[in-house]
Amino acid sequence: MIIAIDGPAASGKGTIAKQVSAIYGLHHLDTGLLYRAVAKAMLDGGHAPDDVARAIEAAIALDPAKFDDNTLKAPAITEAASVVAAIPEVREALMNYQRQFAMRPPGAVLDGRDIGTVIAPGADVKLFVMASPEVRAARRVRELWARGEQADEKEVLADLLRRDERDSRRTAAPLKPAPDAHLLDTTHLDIDAAFRAAVEIIEAARTGRKRR
Ligand code: CDP
Repeated sequence: MIIAIDGPAASGKGTIAKQVSAIYGLHHLDTGLLYRAVAKAMLDGGHAPDDVARAIEAAIALDPAKFDDNTLKAPAITEAASVVAAIPEVREALMNYQRQFAMRPPGAVLDGRDIGTVIAPGADVKLFVMASPEVRAARRVRELWARGEQADEKEVLADLLRRDERDSRRTAAPLKPAPDAHLLDTTHLDIDAAFRAAVEIIEAARTGRKRR
């Protein structure tokens, strides 16, 4: 079983993906970490994230087995990640790893921006998780505080909107729901309610498939 969970920044897709993978006993890949790792390699090497040739090299050289999510979630890396993610060859270099991950038995939950549209268009269930920008900014601020980082809600909101815009407007695998994705608006849902709503959608999709 492959479950694709896409959506904009801080929509709740990562938390939903983690919980869904746990109850179904599936592998979980936060694909944002791949783009973040390329961004970190660029910043560590003193290169601008829009240095296309270097970004492609970094993506090809990436070893996803060595990921440490904690350092990859830092705000400076977040911004650079969306810059390298707009480079088509960077996306191409990361595609095989994601597709192979998805094929590992007994199946996987992948969360990102283009899972339902590009990485796993044949996924059994596709969710597109969204929430209002203000609610997403408030969530991201709480996450940053929990990590011990300073965060100003207005700045975080501006960062989110800029990143959403860049992710949606790029020509390579833009952020958008697949035509057959189920939309899940978590603006008024806490994490428990969002998780339950996701499971309901997944169960309905699975039952529907069995009947067909
Ligand atoms: O947690 P948050 O949504 O803030 O970030 P993320 O999911 O880790 O993604 C960071 C950046 O990576 C995004 O702004 C996208 O530009 C890029 N990304 C992508 O292009 N495709 C994916 N499948 C996942 C992330």
